[in-house]
Amino acid sequence: MTNKTLTLTDNQTGKTAELDLLEGTHGPGCISLKNIYKDTGYFTYDPGYSMTGSCKSGITFINGEEGILLHRGYPIDQLAEKSSYLEVCYLLLYGELPDKTQFDHFSDTIKMHTMVHENIRDFISGFRYDAHPMAMLVGTVGALSSFYHDSLDINDPKHREISAHRLIAKLPTIASYCYRHHRGLPFMYPDNNLSYVENFLQLMFAVPAQSYQQNPVAAKALEVMLILHADHEQNASTSTVRLAGSSGANPFASIAAGVASLWGPAHGGANEAVINMLEAIEQSGETIETTIARAKDKNDPFRLMGFGHRVYKNFDPRAKIIAKLCHELLDELDGDQPLFKLARELEEATLADEYFQERRLYPNVDFYSGIILRALDIPMNMFTVMFAMARTVGWISHWSEMHSDPEYRIGRPRQIYTGHAKRDYPG
Ligand code: SDX
Repeated sequence: MTNKTLTLTDNQTGKTAELDLLEGTHGPGCISLKNIYKDTGYFTYDPGYSMTGSCKSGITFINGEEGILLHRGYPIDQLAEKSSYLEVCYLLLYGELPDKTQFDHFSDTIKMHTMVHENIRDFISGFRYDAHPMAMLVGTVGALSSFYHDSLDINDPKHREISAHRLIAKLPTIASYCYRHHRGLPFMYPDNNLSYVENFLQLMFAVPAQSYQQNPVAAKALEVMLILHADHEQNASTSTVRLAGSSGANPFASIAAGVASLWGPAHGGANEAVINMLEAIEQSGETIETTIARAKDKNDPFRLMGFGHRVYKNFDPRAKIIAKLCHELLDELDGDQPLFKLARELEEATLADEYFQERRLYPNVDFYSGIILRALDIPMNMFTVMFAMARTVGWISHWSEMHSDPEYRIGRPRQIYTGHAKRDYPG
């Protein structure tokens, strides 16, 4: 809270209202609306909440104008270069980088939770063979609350902590089950002798008939991908987790709500949509020019997937890191160079196009991530599952932070009513 206030004056009545101004460590301050209805008789109107601060948070800071992303104060490029996904999980959850003892204990704890109840294998086997992996994931994450009755008290910090550990540890196992069910492959068990990422790769691609050869290039690329997707402030899915959790819903139900929100093509589903768009250009005779024209045509709902961002009106700092990673990986793995080349051409064409310049539409984190995931042999319908697996730590960190915030209340937005005026039932 600052000692500054903003005075609102109603020009019709001359009534004034004094609104407190709040300021944080970085970024724009907020006008406290706590008394606005009491003092003015008005709500505020902000469709999509693009100008609304929904909470106070110390986890992630984004500066959209300057393309800055910090996790607990550390710049994303430094974390991507020097940290590991599990260390970033610790940082997001606990607020500080761990020392060796703390990291080893955290890593061992996560390893103790990598397996899932055997019934979950049957649960996932009950889905149709062609069920979308995101449909399986959203159902299975919600169903986890039916297995862990011992840790659902949201007011118990120990319950909150073990639920966070369980989710971080089990998402790779569950994600791999969704993939393997879809492919008719036997489920693999976690291998706690491996790192978090290596374990995921063997869960996904090992076959019981032979030993699995790790690919260090793929493991490193995936490590960076997970770090870049771990958290991103109050995005749609994180805000969904907070809103669902604000009613007292258990952690697994709240995270399942976040998985559901991430699925949309305007959010986490964009990485899959980018590849569909690039392949459409490649295979359907669409050109970059016709694709860009469609994206600009107001009568066409088509958007250029992988471009634009609600906050970044400059380059998404993650996109820069991912583009470089993509280039290196495709050289190493002789990946889908034509698709990457096409992506580069599309990026260059949009950067030179006035429509995109005026609206400051740049490639976002999803633009290149799909190409990397393909290079890692991750099938397209698993792209958003990968995003959900990475983002689970961000979701559960925000969920936990909310429950530790003395100011948190159940989320309950208001509206501007535009329906019928009051009327009587006929007759
Ligand atoms: C993620 O919030 C996060 O942090 C999300 C995320 C995270 O880590 O959690 O960063 C991950 O979701 C990244 C975004 C992935 N989505 C896409 O790539 C889908 C394509 N992008 C668009 O759907 C769009 O850019 C959004 C949804 C990302 C942002 O939408 P906004 O902020 O509501 O933008 P807008 O609709 O206000 O657009 C402003 C203008 C409009 O034109 P005008 O009405 O001014 O003439 O820009 C245009 C839009 O039509 N526009 C686009 C466009 N995105 C915006 N035009 C063509 N192609 C696009 N991609």
